[in-house]
Amino acid sequence: MKQRNEEIQVLISQEDVEKRIRELADELSSVYAGKELHMICILKGSVFYTCELAKHMSIPVTLDFMSVSSYGDGQESSGIVKIIKDLEQSIEGRHVLLIEDIIDTGNTLFHLKGILEKRKPASLAITALLDKPDRREAEVAVDYTGFRIPDKFVVGYGLDCAQKYRNLPYIGVLEEA
Ligand code: IMP
Ligand code: MG
Repeated sequence: MKQRNEEIQVLISQEDVEKRIRELADELSSVYAGKELHMICILKGSVFYTCELAKHMSIPVTLDFMSVSSYGDGQESSGIVKIIKDLEQSIEGRHVLLIEDIIDTGNTLFHLKGILEKRKPASLAITALLDKPDRREAEVAVDYTGFRIPDKFVVGYGLDCAQKYRNLPYIGVLEEA
């Protein structure tokens, strides 16, 4: 592995993450066979997951990006979801896949789902690369989950801690100092 960081303990290797994403791409490609899938990436955490997933899809896909804030630079969810950057394209009548890096309290996805449903997509499914079920506050159904993980603060593969570590090609746990 080319990038190892002393403070980070590997939780899911790059190989395992990418293998699981290929499986999800295969599953999604067959679920949406004959249709076009509009993939919505939630910036910035989901960028790596979205790209890897899109690369392995065997059906036509389109991409759009949205940025919301739920955390400051800390590690606790504020429960408030604010749109920082909205989608560029309309989702009305389209098959939409909302792509998140991680579901923790569920507040972000709960609010986002509500916002997008009002825009009348033909269908709306949710995928999250990681699921931390222990801290759930809002009930929201994730249709396609990559990995269920324990209640630890993770970084890498798009996930950050105060904007750092997003570029790590694996999922790791920050060691307590
Ligand atoms: P939720 O609203 O609590 O479900 O949190 C969702 C958002 O919080 C994610 O999109 C992440 O940006 C962030 N988040 C939650 N847990 C972690 C973590 O362990 N590492 C990095 N970011 C996290
Ligand atoms: Mg996020």
